[in-house]
Amino acid sequence: MLPCVGMSELSRIGVAIDSELLGKFDRLIAQRGYTNRSEAFRDLIRDELVERTWESPDSQVVGTITLVYNHHVRLLSEKLTDIQHDFHRSILSTLHVHLDHDHCLEVLVVKGKSAEVRKVADTLISTKGVQHGRLTISTSGADLK
Ligand code: NI
Repeated sequence: MLPCVGMSELSRIGVAIDSELLGKFDRLIAQRGYTNRSEAFRDLIRDELVERTWESPDSQVVGTITLVYNHHVRLLSEKLTDIQHDFHRSILSTLHVHLDHDHCLEVLVVKGKSAEVRKVADTLISTKGVQHGRLTISTSGADLK
């Protein structure tokens, strides 16, 4: 079974699936707001394809890095800024939100080779004082329908 990537016409496929499993799938997609199974199936396939792309170090990827940290931690803000300058080629944009008196949230939009983008994320997230960090992988959408 081939997904419809790169094809302009629709292919119809039949999928044999255990009814109990299908019931669980239907409840899951209803909770997520899907109005039909086809779009839910397509999204699962796209998600898997995006994951695969990220597995090859040289693939061009797009994503976001989210960081939460306490800006009172000594030199932490400076350190995070230094790291971002070191990797400036991979960072398209940064959003900084002062969450409360102590905490900052940053969202970085990243783009580039998968290995480089992961390196930026790992370096930032593992910096001492960062309370939570996550790399969200996405795609430019160019290879997906
Ligand atoms: Ni702040």
